[in-house]
Amino acid sequence: MHEPASPTTSKLQYFNRDQGWIQVHERPCPFHSQTFLDTMQEMVLNPNYNTSWILRADILLDSRSDDISEELSCCSLLKEEERTYVLAPEFEMRGFVRSRTVVRRFIPRNPQRDKATNQTCLFFEERVEDRVLGNLKTLVVYIAHAASTEELPYYLPAVKGVAFLYEETPGPIEELESIQKISIHYLLFTPSTIESPGMTTRLERTALRLMDRIIKVGNGSIRGYEKKVHHDLVVPRERSQDTYLKLRVRHAKRLMDSWVEKTDPKKHVFEDILIAAFLIELWEDMYRSGKGEFPGFVDIGCGNGVLVDILLREGYKGYGFDARRRMTWKIFERETQECLSEKVLIPWVLGDEMIKAAALAEAEAEGIKQLRIAAEENLQLEGGIMAGIHDGRFQEGTFIISNHADELTGWTPLLAKASNSPFLIIPCCSHDLSGDKHRHKSTVIKTGAVENVDKLGTRIGTISSEYASLVEWTATIAQDVGYVVEREVMRIPSTRNIGLIGRKCGDGEMSVGEVLEREGGGVGWADKAFALRRMQLQKGHG
Ligand SMILES: C[S@@+](CC[C@H](N)C(=O)[O-])C[C@H]1O[C@@H](n2cnc3c(N)ncnc32)[C@H](O)[C@@H]1O
Repeated sequence: MHEPASPTTSKLQYFNRDQGWIQVHERPCPFHSQTFLDTMQEMVLNPNYNTSWILRADILLDSRSDDISEELSCCSLLKEEERTYVLAPEFEMRGFVRSRTVVRRFIPRNPQRDKATNQTCLFFEERVEDRVLGNLKTLVVYIAHAASTEELPYYLPAVKGVAFLYEETPGPIEELESIQKISIHYLLFTPSTIESPGMTTRLERTALRLMDRIIKVGNGSIRGYEKKVHHDLVVPRERSQDTYLKLRVRHAKRLMDSWVEKTDPKKHVFEDILIAAFLIELWEDMYRSGKGEFPGFVDIGCGNGVLVDILLREGYKGYGFDARRRMTWKIFERETQECLSEKVLIPWVLGDEMIKAAALAEAEAEGIKQLRIAAEENLQLEGGIMAGIHDGRFQEGTFIISNHADELTGWTPLLAKASNSPFLIIPCCSHDLSGDKHRHKSTVIKTGAVENVDKLGTRIGTISSEYASLVEWTATIAQDVGYVVEREVMRIPSTRNIGLIGRKCGDGEMSVGEVLEREGGGVGWADKAFALRRMQLQKGHG
């Protein structure tokens, strides 16, 4: 554990004419300058990995030119008065040349509480003529677009500039190794004096945290660590996050204030807002700009119905059903309540006989005369749909949402195929097509029709975890019936966060019936689906 060192006079005072720099922290590092530069780039592009206060950084300008005045004059994203911060003549460093200028805009996680602000990040290389043989220096400087501490949001260090200096010097002759170190420096708004030192414990801690992060990312990259999680392959991050922020304002408080389940409202509400934002942006690409009318959605196994409620209130027509009604349904306005129903899904392919037998057995078990009559009467109807049962056929093209729908996960691509529907599946617990809990075998991922796989890199090969195997099993079923499966690591607070998206479908190598046969059929599904309802009734699941 490193403690922050007491601030000392900064070497930057030698490089920069501003005498206000102070050095806050210095640490040896095991990597070379290129790794330092790669790490700093990662830090500049993803400040959200350093602090949970920041949602992301939008890059307003990224220039490798040493004269950026022309680019600046064309950059409509920056206000006139902010351009001086980017040109930053007072941040010229003796012995260095500016090699890259990035202007980033911090988007706070809570825009109601914190404001967005801009910052310039300058990358410097040591001037060739100033290099001392065997020595190397690289410098990155962050410049606040603010004239005083008061103009800065809480989530940024209250300083005018932060500098990261990387230095490499030759080690002892016999070791043939160079010595590398990184130091962090602040330029205070008001130069430090004995009476008013300007440094605070908070500023020291921030420097320490930034240093920890640089060392961690740099060490990771020399160990050949590759970022395993690749988000935002299907919908750009900016779009889903901006929509999320808008939805959060409109829905989070009202849903949490009226929460009636025993479960944690925060988890459910924010997760469903995040999924809704993703869906809205996905649908924007699929259906807007003259690509056709939105066909409506169905949320199968919709649970508390929060996702259905948000989407309906955002103007998307659709409905949801679940084997068991939830208390939450009562908190919604009438329009939402009318779009939620208690139905057990028993796929039509399993045949009327299975449905009839299970429905009658259920009626006997529950002693509900009505259900028995309804079952018998409805079985005479064309399509075999009876009260309380959904046969899994939807209006053509309906977008199917299968979010943590447990037993319904593997069935979703088959149901989708039959209704010519696109889908989003976020698998959760592992079951087979009969509804039994089942750990799917590790499998080698096909590369064929699976989009994004090569971009994910690490996803080709043998899958070992139960969750990964479930995801691959579900994707394989979808591909077998002809879907091109896209993957998205959803930005939701759950470890079960892989989204499988099917919006393109061809003929497929197998029919729905063939896949069902290969997977052992759905023996006992109807009994288990009804039993599930009874079990959940007893458990009081949220
Ligand atoms: C883990 S919960 C998830 C609920 C909701 N989608 C969510 O993410 O909060 C799984 C849901 O699937 C429902 N379900 C499972 N099999 C079903 C079936 N055959 N018919 C209707 N609902 C079913 C269960 O009742 C349960 O509410």
